[in-house]
Amino acid sequence: MEPDLTVADQAALTSGNDFWHTTPAAGLPSITVTDGPHGVRLQANEHDVVTGRPATCFPPAVATASTWDPDLLRRMGEALGDECRAMDVAVLLGPGINLKRTPLGGRNFEYFAEDPFLTGVLATEWVRGLQSRGVGASLKHFAVNSQETDRMRISADVDERTLREMYLRAFQRVVTQARPWTVMCSYNRINGVYASQNRWLLTEVLRDEWGFGGVVVSDWGAVADRVAAVAAGLDLTMPGPDETGDRALAEAVADGRLDPAALRTAADRVRALVERAAEREPAGYDADAHHALAREIAGRAIVLLKNEGGVLPLREGQSLAVLGEFARTPRYQGGGSSQITPTRLDDALTALAESASVRFAPGYDDVDEAVALAADCDVALVFVGSEHETEGADRDSLDLPAAHRELIERVAAVNPRTVVVLSNGAVVLTRPWEAAVPAIVEGWLLGQAGGSAIADVLFGRVNPAGRLAETIPVRLADHPSYLDFPGENGHVRYGEGLHVGYRGFDARELEVAYPFGFGLSYTTFEYGQARATATDAGIEVRVPVTNTGDRDGREVVQVYVSVPGSGVRRAPRELKAFANVPIAAGETTEVVLHIAREDLAYWDTRLHRWVVEGGEYHCAVGSSSRHLHTTATAEVTGDDVRLPLTGESTVAEWFADPRGAELLGRAFASADSGPIARLIADPGTISLVGSLPLSRMSAFPGSPLTADALAKLIAEANG
Ligand code: BGC
Repeated sequence: MEPDLTVADQAALTSGNDFWHTTPAAGLPSITVTDGPHGVRLQANEHDVVTGRPATCFPPAVATASTWDPDLLRRMGEALGDECRAMDVAVLLGPGINLKRTPLGGRNFEYFAEDPFLTGVLATEWVRGLQSRGVGASLKHFAVNSQETDRMRISADVDERTLREMYLRAFQRVVTQARPWTVMCSYNRINGVYASQNRWLLTEVLRDEWGFGGVVVSDWGAVADRVAAVAAGLDLTMPGPDETGDRALAEAVADGRLDPAALRTAADRVRALVERAAEREPAGYDADAHHALAREIAGRAIVLLKNEGGVLPLREGQSLAVLGEFARTPRYQGGGSSQITPTRLDDALTALAESASVRFAPGYDDVDEAVALAADCDVALVFVGSEHETEGADRDSLDLPAAHRELIERVAAVNPRTVVVLSNGAVVLTRPWEAAVPAIVEGWLLGQAGGSAIADVLFGRVNPAGRLAETIPVRLADHPSYLDFPGENGHVRYGEGLHVGYRGFDARELEVAYPFGFGLSYTTFEYGQARATATDAGIEVRVPVTNTGDRDGREVVQVYVSVPGSGVRRAPRELKAFANVPIAAGETTEVVLHIAREDLAYWDTRLHRWVVEGGEYHCAVGSSSRHLHTTATAEVTGDDVRLPLTGESTVAEWFADPRGAELLGRAFASADSGPIARLIADPGTISLVGSLPLSRMSAFPGSPLTADALAKLIAEANG
């Protein structure tokens, strides 16, 4: 039994000591928490809270998500854990798992995907990897923090089902499966209530429903009212110190405005975190090995969007024009709290020059020089992308900078073997310039080893296997979020509801430039017939996949589920399983995928819980959300769902329920058959009264449903 803390100690423990440390109250040590997520940003000197000590800058989430490989995420988590131990960091502030609702989101580079399933699966492994090293994760930003515009105040106004199925689902998965030590609440409000003061979110959903037992920490500066926040379930306010807030808490306990148990519980949770962190043994790490891992992940994150005429991979002896400053000065991460000081930095120009004869021009301001080089070389590699993505501001366009577009177009006009290599933290438009080039390599922001990884893919040392975790639209105006972003007067309405990302493009049958899940390889794959079997655990899908080319490669096999005839509105297709499988040239692999039953559930807004609907589930299997090669169906037994019948339930609803139908039938049969009984008995007229709430029938002449009879009927129906 732990000794009780004084109220003053409790209050002190629930706010930070400074930017990155907990308060050493009541004899407890202080622990270090720091960003996160794709490296360890440990503040290097006391006057600069931004610059960190050197640490491996792994690829940001925009890239790691494109690997579609949970295994890589786990290994990256482990490596981050080792670096935390080397720097005495107890909690790493990540992963960031907000949904990419809009491609303009300023922090999209820090987030995984426009799909909650993909996000949840990958983030779960990241957390498992990190925490296997005795270092805690901080799952952030809880919740619905999908834009930077007015991020500290904006209210994300989202309907209940969309919240559960889209914006909370990945959080639920990671919390229940990986048990992160901490969860970081977001800055914004959700349906009018600040996340930091949202009891429904922090206590009812996170703790009571999902069983979260760790610490809820605020985002830095997210707490407007400490007393309200602690009452809602927030444990640790960061940064600190916050002596005024500490006093306010003690006073609120003293004068009865705050339940003393709420403060005590919050402090006990912080204490438990500090004690848990103390079990961590210090360790060193191998910077070269981590750089190699960063390179491996980056190579696997690159998405080959287009490769006509087999321009790629590059062939030995080809002369290369390397054009664009990004080849020499790489963009490898975004701005803001996640910015890492890398242990070293690879650039593509140097990496390419190790394997080929290259000539370089910086390109954007001296286009003529670049065009001249391009005309004189076998292949022109044009490095372009977005210039800046940062926390704190959304983007205002999806277009490449005008100078970059001009460079592409003018180079392509003189060299038919022009390859565009993109560096960007979130999607950029590829039209109209893509028509002019035979090959496009989506290189995202790839971390400190990205330059070498790009060379690995261009030369074919790595056979590209990355897949899009976000749709590339033809135009921004096509995007489902377009009409409701970024909101106004403190509110942003999530008007597209469930139809986030590819779900919205599919529902409206819109053309896209490159669909969610898409990515080419230097080899080709063929799918056989899929088979699906319903099991107690969900659905098992099996599909034979053959590597029909002459190179070993990896295929990301994706399963999208539809429920034709569903009783609720659904997106046409939803990702429910995927497998990342290496397949040797000429080989066939039987790929087995498991869809967990809980992933089939929708959120029922009448019952306020998850429900698996019974019926035929179509499992379309393919290599992207729009390249579906084979479909199998499985008959799934639904959850036993019974809504209570009330006077407000309609005649049709009563008849749809076996017990209700029997009782109602009996009530009318025993009545003197008046006009109402006849309407109900006649199949031709039942639909006329089907929408009538049963209680309204009492007033109809000849109705046997007096108030007493109705009450009895309801009691019997639900009894
Ligand atoms: C960011 C968090 C970050 C924190 C600490 C905030 O501005 O939103 O993601 O962990 O700062 O740097």
